[in-house]
Formats: sequence, C-alpha cells, structure tokens
Amino acid sequence: MADTLAQLKELLGPDGWLLPEDGAHFLQDILGTETACLLIARPATTEQVSDLVRFCAAHGIAIVPQGGNTNVCGMAVPLSGQSAVLLSLSRMNRLIEVNAAANTATVEAGVLMQTLQDAAAEANRVFAPDWGARGTATVGGAVATNGGGLNVLRYGTTREQVLGLEVVLPDGTVWNGLRSLIKDNSGYDLKHLFIGSEGTLGVITRLVFKLHPRQPVSQSMMAVLDDMSRLGEFFDMARDMGGQQLVAFELLPGLGVEKALLRYPDLQRPLETRADWYLLLKFAGRDDVSAPLLELFEAGFEQGILSDAVLSQSLAQEQNLWEIREQMIPHQYFQRPMLKWDVSVPVHRMVEFLECAEVEVRAIDADAICYAVGHVGDGNIHYSVFPTEARADEVSSPIYAQVDALIWSLGGSIVAEHGVGSVFVDRMRRQKSDVEYRMMQILKHSFDPQGIMNPGKLLQGDDAG
Ligand code: LAC
Ligand code: ZN
Repeated sequence: MADTLAQLKELLGPDGWLLPEDGAHFLQDILGTETACLLIARPATTEQVSDLVRFCAAHGIAIVPQGGNTNVCGMAVPLSGQSAVLLSLSRMNRLIEVNAAANTATVEAGVLMQTLQDAAAEANRVFAPDWGARGTATVGGAVATNGGGLNVLRYGTTREQVLGLEVVLPDGTVWNGLRSLIKDNSGYDLKHLFIGSEGTLGVITRLVFKLHPRQPVSQSMMAVLDDMSRLGEFFDMARDMGGQQLVAFELLPGLGVEKALLRYPDLQRPLETRADWYLLLKFAGRDDVSAPLLELFEAGFEQGILSDAVLSQSLAQEQNLWEIREQMIPHQYFQRPMLKWDVSVPVHRMVEFLECAEVEVRAIDADAICYAVGHVGDGNIHYSVFPTEARADEVSSPIYAQVDALIWSLGGSIVAEHGVGSVFVDRMRRQKSDVEYRMMQILKHSFDPQGIMNPGKLLQGDDAG
C-alpha cells in the first residue's frame, strides 16, 4: 500500500494531496464524528479527478467525495474502519460564468453556495438553494445531496435548479453534460441520476445552474402560532394571499428559540410572548410586500390562529429572525443521544404527524424530549428525539420503529432533504419496496461494478459492487 500511495501522490502533484493528520477538518463531520482515510486528495481540475478515479479503480481503492463537509448524515466522510481516499472538491472553486441574459451560471463543484448566491445577486439574479451552511457548503455537494433548505416552497429543490452536469464516472471516464437547455427530450435525462446520488455513481465536477429574477424587496414575519391544530389552514391562507411572494414558511419550536437566545447573545429576542410554536414567513417581490404580509397576520389573528407577531422593519431585523431559525439545529443543545428523522409528509398531515409521534414516543419513554423544526410549507420537518440517557439503549429501536412506521403510514419519507448517507441506510431500505430497491441496486451495479464510489452510503454496504 505504501507504494500505491506514493504513486497516487505523484499523480496528484505536490498541491494535490494532504496527509490525514494534516487535514483534520476534512475528517470530522459536522456532528463531531471523527474518521480516518488513506489520503486526502485535492485535485484542481476535472482531468486530475479523472486521473485519480482511474487510478483508484485500477487499484480497487474506495473514494469518498466531499464538498464543504456540512452533511448531517455521515455522507461525506469515510465509514469507520474503511480504507478510502477522501476526494475533496474544495480546490475546484472557479466561477466560470454568470450569464444574466441566459439566466444561467456555470461553475466548478467546489464553489461555495454563498459565493454563487452573491455572484448571482450582483447580476440581479437569484441562485435559489439556500440554507444555514451556505458559507461552507459547496454547490457540488448541494447537488449530490439534492439539498432542500429555506426556499424550496418558492423555487423547488436543488434538483430543479440544475440544467447540466459534468461527471467523472467510477472508471475515470468524463461525461460532459454541461448543457443549458430548458427542453431536451433526446433520451434518458441522465443528469437526474447523479443529482441526489450522494457520490455513489460518480463525482460531479462542473455544473450549469438555472438562475431566477431577483426579488429586490423582502420582509419576514415571526408569529406566535397559538393554535397548532390549524397550521395547515394557515399555510393555505399564506399561499392564497402571498402567491409567488411567499418564499418561506417555517415552523420553530419555542424551546429551540429560547436555547438559541441563551447560547448566542448577539441574537435579539424578536417577541416578548413566549410560546410553544412560532412561524417564520418570508415574502419577497419586486415591490413592497408589507401590505399582504400585514393582511395575512390580521387574518390569522382574527381567526385565533396567531396571537402575536413581529414584522421585520429593516434588513438587520430580518437577518436576526433568520439567524435565530438557523440556530434551531438541535444537536448543539441537548447532551443526550439523539434519534433523528428528516421527515417529509404531505403538508396537511404535518400536525397529525407531530401529535401522533409525540404520543408514541412518550408511550415508550415518558421523559424523552421531542424536538421539531423545519420547512413545513414544503412538508419537511426535522424531527429529533432525545431519550432519557439511562434508557437510551433500550428505547431507541422501538422509538425508531414506531416513528418510521407512522411516517410511512402518512405516505411520507424518513429522508426529506439531508440524504441517506450512512445514518439512514438501514431504515431507508425498509421504506422501499423490493422492486424499488432492486432498481437502485441495478443502477449502482451498472455504474460502479467494483463498488468503489462512496461505499456504504445510500445503499447498504453489501449492495455495493
Ligand atoms: C435546517 C437544516 C439542518 O433546516 O436542514 O436547519
Ligand atoms: Zn432543513
């Protein structure tokens, strides 16, 4: 192996690799899990990625592609005990072109989401995908996971923003699919296989994205949701009254808001009213959006759904509201084992999910903490359960089984936007019918017969190769 690694370093050139001990941050994921690898490869061009992949294929070495390493499901780091090369795309960070007339952006995979958002804004356009890790996450990672985020309601998922891709296949071949066509029915739309494939079918190296017209005016409202049972009804009101101006519709737990305000003293308390649940909505458009937003609040208030609200009066106030939202991520607040779901259910079954899940969890562990935050406007809620520490081993499996079954009985998915990674692999298998899982295996085997691309992620380990 020492010989092989020496050849690989030679192939990558002096700037193209790091020893694992010199790149700790590539090997620790966002939840703090530490892992190991043979070598951290940092190619700067598609050709170098292709050379690396061809070399690894010839030597049967596993490759774990990584963008900004912000995934929360163990997707972008090697499994423990695995001998893999970690392929960081971070040096492939060139913005190739922002074309305002064509409403497209062509970029390398390692460009940060925020960099592309800013470049699009300068051209009076919007690059739609957006979430808290925008300053660290890369666009390649966003596409490989088909990340969702804060404004899917308005613009759709990341998948819907991709016009073209360049991919290095598991044998090192480069597929240049960097097209920017709106319509192209000339056969299977292969880009969609790679979007959300979590690095298991190839390495995305360059992309063409769709851009949208910029909405220069925006305003956000944080409101006390007094009557949780009418969440769906209020969402319908917001959609009817907001139309295209409704960009985001998020549910925040009071518990999380209090924890965030305590932990991050720079955040301003938005509302004096303490509540179990808040809604955070954003309206954006070409002209002033305050009238419809105020009208929506008044309608919700009169109907007894909302009891209090603040409407942002400046950019700073609006940013404060969204910074609170972005600090709702639960793993930082509870010193207990965390059970996790990334729930997707039809929007109008969200309340039923939350109520039933809590009852079922409490029946197993009466003192468990249930925590929910998310993008309820698109049916996605990040749901976590923190069981009583002393009982965690005993209650975790039954809680997972009950809540997974509840989600499926509501026609939902346990993985909405974060991806499967290693965390959801076994539970996701149970979500799929045999015929659906078999089609996924066939795809994996035909693209990656050796099973070297991100093994053990998305599909169970023994399915790879
Ligand atoms: C969020 C991320 C974690 O919605 O998906 O906060
Ligand atoms: Zn989310």
